[in-house]
Amino acid sequence: MPSYEQIFENNRKWIAEKTATNEEFFANLAKGQNPKYLYIGCSDSRATAEELMGAQPGEVFVHRNIANIISNVDLNAMSVIEYSVNHLHVEHIIVCGHYFCGGVKAAMQPQDLGILNPWLRNIRDVYRIHKEELNSIKDEEKKYMRLVELNVEEQCINVIKTAAVQKEYLSTGFPIVHGWVFNVKTGELIDLKINFTEKLKGIQEIYNLGTV
Ligand code: CO
Repeated sequence: MPSYEQIFENNRKWIAEKTATNEEFFANLAKGQNPKYLYIGCSDSRATAEELMGAQPGEVFVHRNIANIISNVDLNAMSVIEYSVNHLHVEHIIVCGHYFCGGVKAAMQPQDLGILNPWLRNIRDVYRIHKEELNSIKDEEKKYMRLVELNVEEQCINVIKTAAVQKEYLSTGFPIVHGWVFNVKTGELIDLKINFTEKLKGIQEIYNLGTV
C-alpha cells in the first residue's frame, strides 16, 4: 500500500505515463466527458470500477456505496441516474456487486447494527423476497454468494423502476441495464445476463412511469 507521500509521487508518474503516449491526454479530458457507461458498485476497496473493466478516465460514470444499493429515497443515487441518463445519455447502466461483500454479510446477521439498519434493510428486503430460494441453500457460503447475486438483480430492478430510465429507453432504446458480479477470489467479472426488456415488462404493470 502506498504511503501518504507516495500517493503524490505515484500521481506524478501517472501523469508522465499518460502524456508519454498521448501528449494531449489531459487537454482532451478537460474538454468534457462523454461516457457510455454508468457503473453502480460497492464502496469495497477491492471492487474497483475502472481498473477491473480496463477503462480509462472519461469512459465510466461511477456511483459507489455500501452493497451497491439503489434506494428511491437516496437523493444521491437518484441524481446520478437522472444526470447520467438525461444529460450524459449513457447507453449501459451496470449494477456490479461482488462476492464476499461485507454489507451483504452484515445484512444476513439478525442483529441491530445501529445507523446501518435502514441501509441494510434494503438487502434484508431482498432476502425476504427470495426467502424460499435462499433458505433452500444449506451451504452458508453458497447462500451468501446467491444473496449477492439476487441483490444485484433487485437493484437492477430498482434502476429500471426510475422514470428517467423508462422514458429514455422508450424514446431512444437506451440505456440497457445490466447486472454483474465481481469475484474477488479470481478477479473474474461475471455477467448475470439479466434480461432487461423482460424485467421492464415485468414491472410495468405497477411501476409504469414511461408514459408522459
Ligand atoms: Co461490498
